[in-house]
Amino acid sequence: MIASAPGKVLLLGEHAVVYGHPALAAAIDLRVTVEVEPKADVIRLELPGGFPVPQAVLDGLGNLARAAGHRGGFVAKVRSDLPLGSGLGSSAALGVALARAFKPGCDAEEAAALAMHLERVLHGAPSGVDPAICARGGVIEFVKGEPPRIEAVRGRAWLCVAPTGIARGTHSTVMPLAQRRTLDPRVDENLSRLGEIAKQGRPAFERAELPRLGALFDEAHAVLRDLGVSCKELDDTVAKLRAAGALGAKLTGAGGGGAAIGLARDAAHARALATATRGFAVEVGA
Ligand code: PMV
Repeated sequence: MIASAPGKVLLLGEHAVVYGHPALAAAIDLRVTVEVEPKADVIRLELPGGFPVPQAVLDGLGNLARAAGHRGGFVAKVRSDLPLGSGLGSSAALGVALARAFKPGCDAEEAAALAMHLERVLHGAPSGVDPAICARGGVIEFVKGEPPRIEAVRGRAWLCVAPTGIARGTHSTVMPLAQRRTLDPRVDENLSRLGEIAKQGRPAFERAELPRLGALFDEAHAVLRDLGVSCKELDDTVAKLRAAGALGAKLTGAGGGGAAIGLARDAAHARALATATRGFAVEVGA
């Protein structure tokens, strides 16, 4: 059983989406592929580079497999075009690929729901946006819920994705933010502002109003910084993207490491930004 799923970037709304605000997410054409072989008494995950796999993750995988109707153990071998732990959706893409391997033909909604077994272990309190976009592809507006509200977003844009090279777990920024929220009322104000920016970003994306969308990227990064989820390496990468001519730039995903995105005018501009930042050019919504 072989299956795959794409990675993703959060265009706008990361962190705010955990608290019920909307987010805009886009699939990127870099995939995680998994090959699953049934095996009687073992659950094993072989990650690229021989990364060790904690028992809690294996337990999450077992739950995912059982919920998908698989009986017994298995060995899952993973290949990834995406750097792991880079905020580009590798864990959600893995969960969706496993769901498709264990339940071929399952629809996007079911694949995303199955992938949540893994997300809950890895993320603590996931909004569900990552599995949703990795399962559906394209660009979506997502609002958390049971079930979540998901709308396909039209339009396309070129981005430069610039990894900082710092791997980190989503836990490391989501959980501290949840604690700070109980102490500092400005946290909720900032989260609401991020949700508002994501709302305004959707029509700007759909109408290809690039200067407007770029300005919203810049504002979102400033708010995320204020929330304490950026770091020096991310701020430096964002500054490099802007200095190289990006129309706007921000961290993407949980922050604290991972990657930044810069908005480009077109493919050639995205490639020029990628050269300047050792990143890569992607078209989203294509
Ligand atoms: O794990 P990441 O880097 O893709 O972050 C996902 C976005 C967050 O809003 C920070 C977490 C979530 O579950 O929505």
